Amino acid sequence: MNKKLLIFLMATGVALAFLATGLQAGTDVADTFKVESKEYKSRKKVPATLSHKKHAEEYGISCGDCHHDKDGKPIAGLKMGDDVQRCVECHTKLKKSKDNKKDIMVLENAMHRNCIDCHKEINIKAGDPKGRKGPAPASCTKCHPKKKK
Ligand code: HEC
Ligand code: HEC
Ligand code: HEC
Ligand code: HEC
Repeated sequence: MNKKLLIFLMATGVALAFLATGLQAGTDVADTFKVESKEYKSRKKVPATLSHKKHAEEYGISCGDCHHDKDGKPIAGLKMGDDVQRCVECHTKLKKSKDNKKDIMVLENAMHRNCIDCHKEINIKAGDPKGRKGPAPASCTKCHPKKKK
C-alpha cells in the first residue's frame, strides 16, 4: 500500500476512535449550576444553585440519592460522566395548584422533596428540631435569592 495512503487511513482511524468515545462519554455536567428547567415558561423565583460536584464528592451523597429510574428506585453504580435523565422527563407537570400540592409528578414538588427533605434531616441532626435552620438551606430565600429591584 502507498505509504501516504496508509498514514491517511491511520489518522482518520484515530480521529474516528476519538469521535466515538466523545459520543459515548455522556453529558458534561458543570460542577455548579442553576437548577433552571427551561420547560418553565415563566418562573416565580430566582433559580436555586446546586453545587453538584460538591454534593456528590464532599458531602458524600451517592448519585442514586438524587437520580432514580422510572420506578423511583435509586440508580446504582453511577459515576461522574455517566448520562442521566433530567427530572422533568418524568416529573412532567409544571403547574402547581391547590389540587396537586402533594403530587410527586409535579416537578416543583419532586425537586423540593429531594432537596429540602435531605437538608431538613441534616439540620435536625445539627440541633434544630424543626430542621429549618442549620447548615443546609431549607427556607425559600436561602435557595431562591430575593429578586433585585
Ligand atoms: C444532591 C442531588 C444530586 C446528586 C448527589 C447528583 N446529582 Fe446529578 N443532578 C442533580 C440535579 C437536580 C440535576 C439537574 C437535573 C435537571 O435539570 O432536571 C442533575 C444533573 C445531572 C446531569 C446533567 C443532566 C442533563 O442532561 O442536563 C448529569 C449527567 C448528572 N446529574 C449526573 C450525576 C452523577 C453521575 C452523579 C454522581 C456522581 C450525580 N449526578 C449526583 C442532582 C444530583
Ligand atoms: C425515569 C423517570 C424519572 C426521572 C428521570 C426522575 N424521577 Fe423522580 N420519580 C419517578 C417516579 C415514577 C416516582 C414515583 C415513585 C413512587 O410512586 O414511589 C418518583 C418519585 C420521586 C420522589 C419521591 C420519592 C422519594 O424518593 O422520596 C422524589 C423526591 C423525586 N422523584 C425526585 C426526582 C428528582 C429530583 C429527579 C431528577 C434529579 C427525578 N426525580 C428524576 C420518576 C422519575
Ligand atoms: C441527600 C442529601 C442532599 C440532597 C438531596 C441535597 N442536598 Fe444540598 N446539601 C446537603 C449537604 C450535606 C449540604 C452541606 C451542609 C453543611 O454545610 O454542613 C448541602 C448544602 C447545600 C447548599 C449550601 C452549600 C453549597 O454547597 O452550596 C445549597 C445551596 C444546596 N445544598 C442546594 C441543594 C439543592 C438545590 C438540592 C436539590 C436539587 C440539594 N441541595 C439536594 C445535602 C443534600
Ligand atoms: C433547597 C433549595 C430550595 C428551597 C429551600 C426551596 N426551593 Fe423552590 N425550587 C428549588 C429547585 C431546585 C427548584 C426546581 C427549579 C427548576 O427545575 O427549574 C425549585 C422550584 C420552585 C418553583 C417553581 C419554579 C418557579 O420559580 O416558578 C417555585 C414557585 C418555588 N421553587 C418556590 C419555593 C418556595 C415558595 C420555597 C419556600 C417555601 C422554596 N421554593 C424553597 C429549590 C429550593
